Amino acid sequence: MDEGCTRVNETRVKGVYWDGERLLTRNTAPGTRVYGERLFDCEGVEYREWVPGRSKLGAYIRLGGMDVPFRESSKVLYLGAASGTTASHVADIVALGTVYCVEISQRSFRDLVKVCEGRRNMVPILGDATRPEELKFAIESADVVYQDIAQKNQAGIFIKAMRSFRARAGMLSLKARSEDVTRDPAKIFEEACQLLQRERFQVLDMMDLAPFEKDHAMFSVVA
Ligand SMILES: C[S@@+](CC[C@H](N)C(=O)[O-])C[C@H]1O[C@@H](n2cnc3c(N)ncnc32)[C@H](O)[C@@H]1O
Repeated sequence: MDEGCTRVNETRVKGVYWDGERLLTRNTAPGTRVYGERLFDCEGVEYREWVPGRSKLGAYIRLGGMDVPFRESSKVLYLGAASGTTASHVADIVALGTVYCVEISQRSFRDLVKVCEGRRNMVPILGDATRPEELKFAIESADVVYQDIAQKNQAGIFIKAMRSFRARAGMLSLKARSEDVTRDPAKIFEEACQLLQRERFQVLDMMDLAPFEKDHAMFSVVA
């Protein structure tokens, strides 16, 4: 435990808290950290600092984003979990649900497995987000798809996953430079938005994540 804190209030995003200086989630694995974040005790409850510079979802919420579809018992398919930084905060939010964490890189997956071992509602899956049919051995359907993979055709991959897992809601973190380094990021974001709408998703929010993440946008959609 790093320190105590005076007052913690829930933000307008359920399961995410604010102590006047920083975003926090309730630590579902008390005493453990995932990426060196600080731990705080407030009236006997342990919270973990959610550092927006380390997490695009944290940046979205810190910038005022409110269209976060996770509920306490949501079943979440998280594509591109890396070593579990953001996925662990999502797991804190869906404390009675489960986060299925898909990662393609063996190296990141090794770290992810260690994080999941300490958290009862995170399931690590070594797999490819572009091949949803190969993930079905672990998860049949999801309430929410969250995607953060840096490769081409991010919106197309996300749409396929949303349909394959019959998800009603989703969040897509889109890195413009992974689509085309030569083009204006704003145009790439607009095209992704149009593609989502053409494919009959309702885009609730599209937010540029600067200054926390350059050339990244977060989309929140419902099917
Ligand atoms: C920007 S990092 C994710 C960071 C993580 N979401 C977080 O906030 O803690 C992108 C990750 O996507 C993974 N990735 C890229 N292509 C993928 C694919 N096709 N399937 C699964 N993971 C993929 C990369 O290996 C990398 O770890």
